[in-house]
Amino acid sequence: MEYTDLLADRRSTRRFDTGRDVPDEVLERVLAAPLAMPHAGNTYDWRGVVLRRRDRDADRWPAVHAALLGQSYVEEAAVLVAYAVQPGWWAERYRANVAALVDRESGPGDEGFLTTGLIGEAMMGVGAAMLAALDAGLGATVTACRPAELAAALGLPDGAVICPWGVLALGWPAAVDDAPTTGAPKPQVADMYFGERWGRPSPAPVG
Ligand SMILES: Cc1cc2nc3c(=O)[nH]c(=O)nc-3n(C[C@H](O)[C@H](O)[C@H](O)COP(=O)(O)O)c2cc1C
Repeated sequence: MEYTDLLADRRSTRRFDTGRDVPDEVLERVLAAPLAMPHAGNTYDWRGVVLRRRDRDADRWPAVHAALLGQSYVEEAAVLVAYAVQPGWWAERYRANVAALVDRESGPGDEGFLTTGLIGEAMMGVGAAMLAALDAGLGATVTACRPAELAAALGLPDGAVICPWGVLALGWPAAVDDAPTTGAPKPQVADMYFGERWGRPSPAPVG
């Protein structure tokens, strides 16, 4: 699909077809997409836990679903991918660089920037995976969770942090998506940007 059309038509999917799985080769493309994105220092800190509906463990699923806020489309999705980062691992592996990086890239008020930065980096990958899924004809919805609860349900080690909004639900869209939350109008581009300083109208060409 043309990238412009893909963006123009992108909406979150809130009803998935529970009768259709995602073929392995399509899922491979989706899972590879985050690696196309840039990475701070080539550290590739993020990791994803892939959950397939067909392999769902009846004993463990309720805790996962509850941590994903019990949402019905999550139950329906053929695949869920929960992304996490490991700030402690990053700091350990790049110990020599971390002190210099913290010195160079943070100032007063920037505490905690390493974890938020790593989560932001991982989220670029979530966006890339979502677009790859749409390109293959799948539906996709970025999904929130209760991070600590999801980390426990998925067996994350100490120091690994679930991206709080970093779960991707994937599957073939249901023939009818009657969920009430889809289809809100988008803001105008010109309302989203300022020019030169916060609060000043954005110059052309946006809007
Ligand atoms: C970070 C993030 C978290 C989201 N979490 C959820 C969620 O948990 N449940 C849900 O139904 N939609 C979720 N969404 C989807 C948004 O509600 C949706 O993007 C928004 O309503 C705009 O609609 P659209 O995606 O169809 O354009 C999330 C989106 C983002 C970007």
